[in-house]
Amino acid sequence: MANAKLEVDGKTYELPIVEGTEHERAIDIGALRNKSGLITLDPGYGNTGSCRSSITFIDGDQGILRYRGYPIEEIAASAHFTEVCYLLIYGERPDAKQLARWKADLTRHTLLHEDMKKFFEGYPPAAHPMAIMAAMMASLSSFYPAGDDDESLDLNIIRLIAKSKTLAAFAYKKSIGQPFVYPQNSLSWPANFLRMMFAVPAEPYEVDPVFEDALNLLLILHLDHEQNCSTSTARMVASSGANLFASLSAGVCALWGPRHGGANQEVVEMLETIRSSGSTCRAFVEKVKRKEAGVRLMGFGHRVYKSFDPRAKLLKAAADRIFGKLGIEDPLLALAKELEETALHDDYFVERKLYPNVDFYSGIIYRAMGIPTNMFTVMFVLGRLPGWIAHFRELRTDPDNRISRPRQVYTGATVRAWEPSAT
Ligand code: ACO
Repeated sequence: MANAKLEVDGKTYELPIVEGTEHERAIDIGALRNKSGLITLDPGYGNTGSCRSSITFIDGDQGILRYRGYPIEEIAASAHFTEVCYLLIYGERPDAKQLARWKADLTRHTLLHEDMKKFFEGYPPAAHPMAIMAAMMASLSSFYPAGDDDESLDLNIIRLIAKSKTLAAFAYKKSIGQPFVYPQNSLSWPANFLRMMFAVPAEPYEVDPVFEDALNLLLILHLDHEQNCSTSTARMVASSGANLFASLSAGVCALWGPRHGGANQEVVEMLETIRSSGSTCRAFVEKVKRKEAGVRLMGFGHRVYKSFDPRAKLLKAAADRIFGKLGIEDPLLALAKELEETALHDDYFVERKLYPNVDFYSGIIYRAMGIPTNMFTVMFVLGRLPGWIAHFRELRTDPDNRISRPRQVYTGATVRAWEPSAT
């Protein structure tokens, strides 16, 4: 095994170099503190590997994304969401029998316990559906025991993937004051969700196959993205021994932020602001460059991708295809393309290697499907949840699994005496 040498205060420390299957190399500093008293400092973990993982590979310089070795472009061209969930969680594609069983299980477990419906009643109408999702996800643990054995975990995995869409649709129905629509077993996972979102008792509802396909693609593209903020959060919570539902609820909370999954909502709001203000893309880009009040070009930039995010490329093409099939034009799509072109030809973005990310075009497609802006991040949850599950399952059997507990460099007051208060 190769070693790296670190020299501090005239002493040399040998540190092993670990190599992954795609030849990524890392210096293992696990023993550094014991040997030297030193720790490493890396705010935001930009250069820190937290684990070994065999789920997803990203090459941010080349714009490559693979799930379990399969290129995202090939998966996206023909796969069904539920099959890819199985691949990510269990490591291999299911055979025909496994797939039939998996789909049947995911269909049979879609109902929520009737008592859970009462929880929805307590929320104010304006409650953000992400708050409801996080609370409901953790609440599931009070209905379903989280046993440590494989069988209990497998059952809870099925429950979560099946029920997450029911939770999301119920949160939406609650926010608009409509009655809940129960799942229908004859439908695919995406179609079932769309029906629970948009059907009303007074009228017949047919799922539009264009929307069903679009949602299938969106869900697949959001499934996993290695050690991102929400996945790392879910893994960190799981490392304490917390159950699957609690760990995933933490993932939902981490995803909510505008620097992460909340960016898809912010992109559409940004485009709407540019449009309604009568301003131009150029003027907005100049504002971003001046860093006016922290203004950022939402849906642009990524910690890992320093080239095109392959998911953004697929979604841009999908947006054109979907709008073409529906025969509609959305001024926001044209505006997004203009904004992208303006940024991609501007030195500020070129020098910093800022490209559109997955959130840049996803919101425009959700909008076309009739999904309201405040549900966009919930849509991200639905896609990412099976990825979090794959990581939870991987962590469980990881021989390196210790409680996640970073260290710090203390910068506060040095020791001082505590004098008793005068009163
Ligand atoms: N608009 C304008 N400037 C940007 C942007 C942006 N979207 N993203 C990065 N920059 C600039 C920073 O200001 C910084 O410039 P500086 O060197 O002059 O200070 C430089 O590019 C590096 O940016 P960092 O913030 O250090 O990059 P980091 O890796 O920490 O952040 C992040 C990545 C959070 C995604 C960032 O690019 C961002 O805020 N983007 C907008 C929000 C967004 O789209 N988030 C979704 C990401 S994908 C996902 O989570 C699903």
